[in-house]
Amino acid sequence: MTLPEMKSKVMEEAQVRTQKRLAEGVYRLELSAPEHARHALPGQFVQVQVKSPGVFLRRPLGLAEADTESGSVALIYREVGKGTAALAALRPGEQVNLLGPLGQGFRMDVQHPLLVGGGMGLSPLLCYAQHLWRHGAQPEVLMGGRTAAELFWQDLFAPYAAAIHLTTDDGSLGRQGFVTALLPELLAEGGYDSVAACGPEIMMRGVAKVAQEQGLPCEVSLERRMGCGLGACLSCAIDTAHGRRKVCKDGPVFPAEEVFC
Ligand code: FES
Repeated sequence: MTLPEMKSKVMEEAQVRTQKRLAEGVYRLELSAPEHARHALPGQFVQVQVKSPGVFLRRPLGLAEADTESGSVALIYREVGKGTAALAALRPGEQVNLLGPLGQGFRMDVQHPLLVGGGMGLSPLLCYAQHLWRHGAQPEVLMGGRTAAELFWQDLFAPYAAAIHLTTDDGSLGRQGFVTALLPELLAEGGYDSVAACGPEIMMRGVAKVAQEQGLPCEVSLERRMGCGLGACLSCAIDTAHGRRKVCKDGPVFPAEEVFC
C-alpha cells in the first residue's frame, strides 16, 4: 500500500442525508459531499459552518467516514454547546458548509495495526479502519469506555475490523480497567506492525509508552482548541521534538515520539 497523495482543501455546500442518534447526546450526521469524500484521508478534519442565528464560527470535527462511491462523509459528534446543538437540529435536505479536508492524517503504509481509542476519539479511528479495510489491511481495534453503554462504537467498527477488543472501567463489558490494562498482552501476542491512538491525552500517553516498550511505531491524534483551522492564528500551537508545530496544519496526527517527548 502506498501513501495517498495529499489533495488540496475545498469549500463545499453539503446536504444532510441522515441524522441519527447513536447514544445519549451523540449523533451521526451523514452528508452528501462528493469533493470531501474524494479527497479525504483518515485522520483529517473539516471546519463545519451551520447556518443558525448566533452561531458564527466554524467548528472543527474529525471525519468519521468517507465514501467515494456514494459521495458521502459522516461526522460523529457529541452535543456540547450552541454549535453542535445547531448541528443536531439539522434534518435531511438541509445544508451545511464544509471547509476541508484539513490537516495531516494517519499513515496508510501499514497492514496489521492496532487502533486504540476512547470516547469521541474513536471517530477518526473509524475512518482509519474503513480506509485500511478497503485497501486490504487487517486493522484490529481496542476501545475503552466507562460502561458498556459507551461502547456503542463496536457495531460501527465491526465491518472494518479483523477483531475488536473491549475494556470498561466498571467491567460491564470486556476486560475491567483502562485500555492500558489489556494493551501490553495484545501488543506482545498480536503481531501488529503499528499502533494508532486517539482519545484522552493521558490514555494516548499510556498507549504510546507501551508501544515504545514493544518497539512499535505509534501515531496519536491530538485535540486542541482551534480558531482558523488553517495554520494562520497559532491558537493550536504546541511544543514538539521538532520545535513549535500547529495541530491544525502539521497534525492532528503526529508520531507519538514527536509530541510526547
Ligand atoms: Fe489557527 Fe491552528 S487553528 S493556526
